[in-house]
Amino acid sequence: MWLGLSVGEVEGLGYYDFMAYIGVPFFNIGGVPSLDLLAERCGIDETCHVLDVGCGTGGNSAYLVESYGCRVTGIDISEIMIARAQERKEEHPLGDRMRFMTGDAYALGFPDESFDVVLTVFVSQFLDIEQAFSEFSRVLAPGGCLGVNEMYRLESVPGELVERVDEAEQVFRELTELPFSLRSPEVWERGFRDAGFVDVGVEAFEYAMDVRAGLEMVEDMGGWWKMLGMLWKTYMLALRSRKIREKYMRIGRGKDVMLRDKETKKYFGYVLGLGKKP
Ligand SMILES: C[S@@+](CC[C@H](N)C(=O)[O-])C[C@H]1O[C@@H](n2cnc3c(N)ncnc32)[C@H](O)[C@@H]1O
Repeated sequence: MWLGLSVGEVEGLGYYDFMAYIGVPFFNIGGVPSLDLLAERCGIDETCHVLDVGCGTGGNSAYLVESYGCRVTGIDISEIMIARAQERKEEHPLGDRMRFMTGDAYALGFPDESFDVVLTVFVSQFLDIEQAFSEFSRVLAPGGCLGVNEMYRLESVPGELVERVDEAEQVFRELTELPFSLRSPEVWERGFRDAGFVDVGVEAFEYAMDVRAGLEMVEDMGGWWKMLGMLWKTYMLALRSRKIREKYMRIGRGKDVMLRDKETKKYFGYVLGLGKKP
C-alpha cells in the first residue's frame, strides 16, 4: 500500500506516516542501551507480556522478544507504522511472539489487567500524560510496571535561550499535530505519582553522540546499506518536492537546538522512568 505513493501523496502524509514511509526504524536518542536499561529495570523476562505503546515500525518490540524472550503486543496510531511492523513480524523467526495492531494510547482496546509491563519509548512526550498514564494503569496487572523512555527539558533554561528552545518544541508540535511538550524530570516523576504508581524512579541522562555511539546506532538501525537506502530515499524526495525540503529543514533546525547546539543542547536529554501499579 505504502510503497507506490506519488510525491504528492507523500507530501500529504502525517509526520509519522512520512517517517515510516522513508523507513526510519526507530526514533529515540538513547538507542538500544537505553532500551536494555529500561527492560532490566522493569524486570522483563520470558514470562512477561509487554505492551509497546506507540511501537512505530516494531524495532523495539522485536528487540525485546529476541533479547528477553517475552511476548510483545505493539500498538500505534499510524497505519503505515503498523504495516511496517507487520512486515517485520512476518520476516522474523520469533514473529509468533509479537503482534501489532493500530490503536490509540488514550483508549487501548484491551481488557483491564492484560499486561505485565507497559512501555513507551518517545511516545508519552507527545501525550497528555494524566490521561495516558491512567489508561496504561488500567491495562496493567497489579504489580505490573510502566516504563518510559522520553525526552526531558530542564526548568533552568536561561531567559535569553527560552525563545529558541520554545520554537524548537513548537516545530515538533506543528509537524506532528500532537501536544508535544517536554517536561522536566521532576514533572515526569509527578506524572507517575499522580496516576497512582508506586516505587517510582526517574533518572535523567544526557544525550551524548560520539563516533562509537554513532557507529553503534548505524548498526542498530540495520547497518550501512539500510542507512544509505534511507538517505537516498530522503535525498530523492527532497530533490523532487519543495514542501518536503522545507519539512526536512524545519526538523533539522528543531533538532539542532535540542541535540547539536552546544549552548542549548545541555538543557535536553532523556529520562528512564518507571513505576509499579499497586
Ligand atoms: C517518536 S515515534 C517512536 C516510535 C517507537 N516507540 C520507537 O522508539 O522507535 C512516536 C510514535 O508514537 C505514535 N503515536 C503518537 N500518538 C499516539 C497515540 N495517541 N496512540 C498510539 N501511538 C501514537 C506515532 O505514530 C509514532 O509511531
